[in-house]
Amino acid sequence: MEIIIEPDATALAERAGQVVFADLAKKPDLVLGLATGKTPIGLYEKLRARPDAFAQVRFFNLDEFFGVPPSDSNSFNYFLHFHLIRHIRHQEKNLHLLRGDVNDLEALSREVEEKIKSVGGIDLQILGIGKNGHIGFNEPGSSLGSRTRPKTLEASTLAEYMKNIDSRAPVSSFAITMGVGTIMDSRHLLMLASGSGKAEIIREMVEGPITSEIPATCLQLHPRATVILDEESAAKLKRRDYYKWVFENKWRVGQK
Ligand code: F6R
Repeated sequence: MEIIIEPDATALAERAGQVVFADLAKKPDLVLGLATGKTPIGLYEKLRARPDAFAQVRFFNLDEFFGVPPSDSNSFNYFLHFHLIRHIRHQEKNLHLLRGDVNDLEALSREVEEKIKSVGGIDLQILGIGKNGHIGFNEPGSSLGSRTRPKTLEASTLAEYMKNIDSRAPVSSFAITMGVGTIMDSRHLLMLASGSGKAEIIREMVEGPITSEIPATCLQLHPRATVILDEESAAKLKRRDYYKWVFENKWRVGQK
């Protein structure tokens, strides 16, 4: 796991943009997994600055609320169009975003797994982290080998999400999410976290034991996980100074 600590959320978004564009430069038809939530919004702003870079990119996303159609402003599908897709050059045939208005989430889950396989797997998966350690909507206790499937959200996850949206009515406690195993199959993981509210869970994710109680700890097992933090979310890391030193000095061994 590579830990990069930036001064604030603006610098974090800038750095994350560099990581995405570096992967895109190596593979213009990148298979890119998107995340929703507050954290990646700054990154999506950076990506919008180079709209032509995405003409060949194949897009997937982590999760979606059950029963919420793409036209609903509370859907993740809508969110991703709003913050990214409508601003960049893309091909409709390359958009594989989840939709929540299906009758059979199990069937959709199987289709998603097949689709990811048929494009050769996800090259770069963007991730945020929930305060309870979820990635995607893999709540605590999710199998670390799980695949895309329907999932029931914890009350705290739903409450956190409800703070961000206009509607006062709960969206849905049910969702579809890529599994932990599905996420782990991605060739490169890019996790972003900012703000003091994430400091405790980031400490557990990076420096705590691997456990399904904190699904994000699986990143410790991934061969290529880049974790970009701001100072606030990195504040509780025991080896904070070490991570900074490594990042600043890795050019000495030709890694920069
Ligand atoms: C969203 C998702 C979630 C969020 C997480 C953090 O697609 O998969 O795991 O990344 O809940 O959300 P924010 O960024 O709003 O703190």
